[in-house]
Amino acid sequence: MKFGYFDDLNREYVITQPDTPLPWINYLGCQAYFGIISNTAGGYSFYRDARLRRLTRYRYNNVPLDFGGRYVYLRDNESKEFWSPSWQPTRHELKDYTCRHGMGYTAIGSSYSAIEAHTRYFVPLDENLEIWQLTVTNRRTTKATLSGFASIEFCLWDAQDDATNFQRNLNTGQVEVEDGVIYHKTEYRERRNHFAYFACSEPGAGFDTQREAFLGRNRGWDKPATVEAGQLTNSIAHGWSPMGAHQVKLELEPGETKQIVFLLGYHENPVDQKFDPPNSQTINKILVKPVIAKYLDPSNADAAFERLRQYWDSLLSIFQVDTPDIHTNRMVNIWNAYQCMATFNLSRSASFYESGIGRGLGFRDSNQDLLGFVHMAPSRARERILDLAATQLPTGGAYHQYQPLTKRGNNDIGGGFNDDPLWLIVGVSAYLKETGDWSILDQPVPYDNEPGSEAPLYDHLQRSFSYTLDRLGPHRLPLIGRADWNDCLNLNCFSSTPGQSFQTTTNKDGKVAESVFIAALFVHAGRELAAIANHRGLDGETTSYLAEVAKMEEVVRQHGWDGEWFLRAYDDFGAKIGSKECEEGKIFIESQGFCTLAGIGLDDGTAKKALDATRKHLATRHGIVLQQPAYSRYYLNLGEISSYPPGYKENAGIFCHVNPWAMIGETRLGRGDEAHDYYSRINPSAREEIGDLHRCEPYVYAQMIAGKDAPTFGEAKNSWLTGTAAWNYYAIVQWILGVRTSLDGLEIAPVIPKSCPGFTATRIFRGVVYSISIERKGEGNHIALTVDGAPIEGNIVAPPADGRKEVSIKGILS
Ligand code: GLC
Ligand code: GLC
Repeated sequence: MKFGYFDDLNREYVITQPDTPLPWINYLGCQAYFGIISNTAGGYSFYRDARLRRLTRYRYNNVPLDFGGRYVYLRDNESKEFWSPSWQPTRHELKDYTCRHGMGYTAIGSSYSAIEAHTRYFVPLDENLEIWQLTVTNRRTTKATLSGFASIEFCLWDAQDDATNFQRNLNTGQVEVEDGVIYHKTEYRERRNHFAYFACSEPGAGFDTQREAFLGRNRGWDKPATVEAGQLTNSIAHGWSPMGAHQVKLELEPGETKQIVFLLGYHENPVDQKFDPPNSQTINKILVKPVIAKYLDPSNADAAFERLRQYWDSLLSIFQVDTPDIHTNRMVNIWNAYQCMATFNLSRSASFYESGIGRGLGFRDSNQDLLGFVHMAPSRARERILDLAATQLPTGGAYHQYQPLTKRGNNDIGGGFNDDPLWLIVGVSAYLKETGDWSILDQPVPYDNEPGSEAPLYDHLQRSFSYTLDRLGPHRLPLIGRADWNDCLNLNCFSSTPGQSFQTTTNKDGKVAESVFIAALFVHAGRELAAIANHRGLDGETTSYLAEVAKMEEVVRQHGWDGEWFLRAYDDFGAKIGSKECEEGKIFIESQGFCTLAGIGLDDGTAKKALDATRKHLATRHGIVLQQPAYSRYYLNLGEISSYPPGYKENAGIFCHVNPWAMIGETRLGRGDEAHDYYSRINPSAREEIGDLHRCEPYVYAQMIAGKDAPTFGEAKNSWLTGTAAWNYYAIVQWILGVRTSLDGLEIAPVIPKSCPGFTATRIFRGVVYSISIERKGEGNHIALTVDGAPIEGNIVAPPADGRKEVSIKGILS
């Protein structure tokens, strides 16, 4: 069952009924000001940090779901009826409801008693505000006398504190209202130099800033007393719950349309210019007023929308593909790239599943996110890499997370996730391949943000590499630490106290438990580092990196191979995990996927065996499960992985983040059919038809689909913010379609299904537009390339020597 459809031409997903199985969300903003918006206008906004600079309130665990939002009400002043064109919060039965989620905007509209209303929400580029454009049309044959209301509830900045610290917070709320603009200034009197504002383009017929005045006692957002009565009360909040509501009059002749602009924004004043007059307590509005005036002008709002559209056109034009498979095309050309922007910006902080109050930006997550993002905004990727590296510790270790506002490592969680540092090499390598900007390696970057500790970024990569070598276990495999990629494989935790964090509780000295996954990551990252060193002419270093890589491969062969597949780990007793000897958890995808991706076992048949075993034991029609058999009980020596009921999350769920590793592994074996088959099983667009089972948005990947051991097999959870976005993008574009960045140029190495006749693509790479056409003439993966009509040796297209900006590549597969 479907709940809408893809409008590929407009790059929109159109939801046609408001009661989707779960809130289906979109993101507003792609730089510093962000918002989450659901298909019924639920969600919230924040500036940079979803916890510390939250602008509006959201209610978690609410029933019904998804409360707190950007709510518009219309009231027919004759019949006295009122409703919400976005369905929530009044939930009237609407005609022609649609929600169009697009690239950086969402438009929700409907018709009710012949009044059509649409609101388009977006954040203009380079501004810290969001625009709501409300368009109302009278489709009646008679004049309509309406009132329009727009409302938001302010959050008192720190979303965690706001949800818990009532003894203080019910006293601190403050607002100002000037020239019809509502300013939220809680704590501005003391240490904050920022405030929020809510403005309206029409002369107001009333406002409210105190929630209780707006809603009335004991009422909810579905039935505000003021909206019911048709008049706001001009309340000024003193403490309690400050909010913003505007009322406008709408008198519409038959057929007449009117547009009203609402602005919700964030502004920071210079610390020494907070007040006007200077020794007063009144917000200095000199700097913000021109911004407000600009965007309240509908023509400027439209122009800003047009700019946003062009921005996305240009971002997406960097890679466009035309294959016979519509699901591949629309994910690659539109939605998967778009999701990569969201994961780059927000890491795992704010979604319908991430509360925005828990997590900072993850070190490993953010490095992996670069794989799907770096081509879109290399300069932002560069900045991110340098920020991440600056949190690295002198040992080469890494804080597991850092806070986006301070850019400091997060001490509460600390480090000791032994895979973390290696991802920096993977991220930097992706950046170098995309940009050819070798200068980044010489950029001085501190350790742990300590002034004076600066060393070239290249030094950071070396320390990342040594970090693993300095921590080898009894089999010479890397020690796992608190966890590796699998945050829930906590082999040194041994926690029997409810509520303890599995990630930060460590009861063992950590000298025994080893990870085959980190070994594979080390081999992969080590090869990348060697290639970088080689490119810089550092022969000695290249040789020594490759020697360490070869040693590690040998160790994996000896101690990481179980006969039919790769082992996953050794626990604190030195016992195998992910082995046929185990009762449960006999085979894991991470080691099969990452060993083969890293090229381990390609030469001796073990890679093929491992992926055959994956297909046999782990692949399901909804994707590849993480391990089998699922853990049926809690294992003290394994940690969080066994805390989940079978089939969910890391305990044998279909963890979509790791599926692409097996896809890439398959391409390394030359098996395009298998690779694309796995790709299609979890492709959200290909799952659109089973929307009532899948339940999450069909336009973005979810972290997890319930595995075959779960009663809800096939049901997705945790959509949007997941490494799944970057890895699937990377797998399909660079390994299956095989349009791959390399240090020396654009590599063309498709491993597509045998039945696929070929494809065409455009890739803008290092300033050159490559038009690529691939034609299949035989069933294999051998490629013969001609570049601007001339055959070339090999499959790497070097940047044009003569400075041409357009290059045509033709490839024949046989
Ligand atoms: C989550 C985390 C990621 C981790 C994965 C597996 O997606 O964000 O860091 O690798 O779970 O546990
Ligand atoms: C929890 C989640 C896991 C995630 C981890 C990150 O353990 O289950 O998926 O990776 O938190 O902190």
